[in-house]
Order: sequence, then structure tokens, then C-alpha cells
Amino acid sequence: MDSIVVTGNGPLNGDIPIAGAKNACLTLMPATLLSEEPLTLTNAPRLSDIKTMTALLQSLGAEVTSMQDGQVLAMSSHNIDNHTADYDIVRKMRASILVLGPMLARDGHAIVSLPGGCAIGARPVDLHLKALEAMGAKLELKDGYVHAKAQGGLKGGVVEFPFVTVGATENALMAATLAKGTTVLKNAAREPEIVDLAQCLRKMGAQIEGEGTSEITIQGVDRLHGATHPVVTDRIELGTYMLAPAICGGEVTCLGGKINLLGAFCEKLDAAGISVEETAKGLKVSQKNGRVRAVDVTTEPFPGFPTDLQAQMMALLCTAEGTSVLEEKIFENRFMHAPELIRMGAQIDVQGGTATVTGVDRLKGAPVMATDLRASVSLILAGLAAEGETVVNRVYHLDRGYERVEEKLGACGAQIERIKGQ
Ligand code: EPZ
Repeated sequence: MDSIVVTGNGPLNGDIPIAGAKNACLTLMPATLLSEEPLTLTNAPRLSDIKTMTALLQSLGAEVTSMQDGQVLAMSSHNIDNHTADYDIVRKMRASILVLGPMLARDGHAIVSLPGGCAIGARPVDLHLKALEAMGAKLELKDGYVHAKAQGGLKGGVVEFPFVTVGATENALMAATLAKGTTVLKNAAREPEIVDLAQCLRKMGAQIEGEGTSEITIQGVDRLHGATHPVVTDRIELGTYMLAPAICGGEVTCLGGKINLLGAFCEKLDAAGISVEETAKGLKVSQKNGRVRAVDVTTEPFPGFPTDLQAQMMALLCTAEGTSVLEEKIFENRFMHAPELIRMGAQIDVQGGTATVTGVDRLKGAPVMATDLRASVSLILAGLAAEGETVVNRVYHLDRGYERVEEKLGACGAQIERIKGQ
């Protein structure tokens, strides 16, 4: 397994290109199943999760051709001859559940393995299933698989989510485009990835109103057609690289970045003493003056502070002046980076879903290990500012969500290299 070796060596300066969003691409790809005509995505990120979704769609009979070094995905689902999403693929990536709504909506039946738990929490899919039931689907759980049927097709209905869920909103939104009649999604997720999905579906002929608000109304149509759509900028990759000059000093412009993708994240950076300026090229980030200040952070659905930036923010706050309290409200087990940061000299006390971080002057390099994607990159950020060498092991998690991390940071002056494993 590869590892990444980082040596803290002062300020970073330069430009970092931000890719298309992993989590948008992972929901736009299953949208191909809704139509017999081709769907082409541009600005796709080159990540292992995208390869996993490609393999899943191909296993169902879809054609997926990766072009322009993976940045264009040309897909066609005119020949879906298998309606079973197998456990072997689904267990690798929970976003696989997003094929359920589209397959069921188009062909009236689908069998999808249940994803099971994962490192950051139990992450059930009950709300995906309840939403489809509200549209008339009959579901049965057998041998770890959801067997879904909708004889005569799905029907519009009212789906009220008890709390905000990105994935269930996406599954329901895709399914509703082909359901008979009107579907209303209440307490829907408002993340930029949902807005991107709705815009793509509209290009395919769907009738959708209200994306980006907590109530989305979909008028079902008989069929969807082909389209070409650029994947929205990855706000989590953007926020991650914005934290690099925040931690190390210097000035970095994250190309293509926009403040409106970031919600409360920018407010917290401002409070911590980080300057963020939107320019024609992207977001220019630097420290305002002197040491970063402690801030309290609570993760919430968009536009609140994203759970996917909590680990990286913690890396920043480890060397801030004062004590910060981080509350994780989305996933029950998302502080696995804390013990690793402690190995680097951080002072962190975790009690349930709350982490109290008391800033130290400087972290010290150490060998560390991460069990999820965002935790891995938080350790790289911490290593950039630490004294000495940090070796981040098990970087396959990182490769699921960050393309060419060592090149992007290296181009700004970071001392970082990948050591190829066996
Ligand atoms: C998406 O996961 C992202 N993944 C996650 O990205 C992200 O952390 C999360 O949204 C929150 O923003 C993709 O888009 C592929 P949820 P998702 O449904 O859709 C509970 C990353 O690092 N829940 O919004 O699975 C759930 O357990 C990641 O890129 C149910 O109880 O998240 C969680 O506590 C990891 N029942 C909360 O809701 C359900 O049926 C929010 O989850 C569905 C969710």
C-alpha cells in the first residue's frame, strides 16, 4: 500500500486547480440509468470511487467510456440487462445505493445489496427506502439485498425526510423524474451536489423546481433524453486546499473556487483569522496576521459547516491560539483522526461527539494511519506544518477522493512525496 511522506517546510505559494466534485459525480453517473440516450459528464474527477461507480454501472449493462484522461465520462444505458447491484461492489462504496432509484423508476424492478456499516458510522439507508415506498415501491429485504418492485411504474407522492440526508434526497429526486404525477420532497438536502444533479436532470428533460431549498417539487415525465453536463467544483477539495496556506502560511489561489459553495466554512475561516478573497481565477487564501485563533465548529447540513471538512479544520485548530470545541452532528464516529493528531503532539480531548482542541505552538512529525478519506488528508495538512517528517500510511482512502494530492501541494512548494507500496 502506498504512503505519503510530508516534511513541514514553511509557507506555500501558488495556484491549486480544483477538480469536479466526487460526490456530485457519484450521483450524476447513476442518472444515466434513467434514459436510453447517452449522458456525458465533463469535468469529472479522476478518483478510485469514480472507477468503482464505473464498474457498477458496467455490471448492470451500461456503457461507460472514460475520455480525456478521465475528465470526460461518456455513458449510455440503452442496454441494461442486469438489475442486480452486487454486494462485492456495493460494499466498497456506499454511494452504490444511488442506482436503486433510477433502475426502479425506469424498469420497475431492481435488486441492490445493502451497503452495511462503515468506518465513520452505521449509515443506514432506511430513508432511501422509505422515500421509494412513498412513491409506491414494494420492497423486501432478503439475504442482505433490497428487492424493489414498482408494477406499472412509480407514482408521485409526498416524501418528508425526518432529518436532512443527501443520498436519500438524490435517490428520491432521480426516481421522481419518471414517476407518474407530482412528487414533493420536504426537508430535502440543499447541498450544491443536489443543485448540480437537478440541473443535469433538467437538461435531460426532467421537470424540477426548488432545488437548493428544502422543498423540491418534481413533475414526472414519460421519458428522459440525453445530455452533456459539467460536474460542479468539488467544495470539499476546495476547502481542504484552502486550509493549506491557513495552516502553513503563504498565499494560495484555489482555481475555480467560489465562496457560495462553502457556506459556514468561510465564516469560520474568517473568525480564525484567515483571509479569503474571491477573484476571477478562484479563491485567494492567506493568514490575515499572526497566529490562527481558536473557533468553535458544529457540523451541519449545507449551508452549515460540512462534516467532510471537520477533520481538516481540526488540523488547523491544533496550532491555533486558544481552545476550540468541535461538535460532530452528522456521523457518530468521525473523530478517528484525533488519536493520530495526538501522536503528532496535538492536545485533543474527545468525549462522544465533541472534541476539545487546545492549540499547541507546533506539531511534530510522526508515522500516522487513517481509516477514512477526510481523516487521511487532515493528517497530510497537519504534516505540512509539523516539525520533521510525517508518514501517512494507508493512503488508498485518500485516492478515493483526492486526485494527485502530492502534485497539487508540491507545485506550491510543499515537500511531499508518495512512496509506492507492494
Ligand atoms: C453524503 O453521504 C456524502 N457522500 C458524504 O461524503 C457526506 O459526508 C454526507 O453526504 C454528509 O454531507 C456522497 O455524497 C457519496 P447523508 P450520505 O445521507 O448521502 C443518516 C465523503 O467523505 N442516514 O446525508 O450517505 C446517516 O447515517 C463522504 O466524501 C440515515 O439514518 O450522507 C447520517 O448520520 C463521506 N438513514 C445522516 O443521515 C438514511 O437512510 C446524513 O447522511 C440515510 C442517512
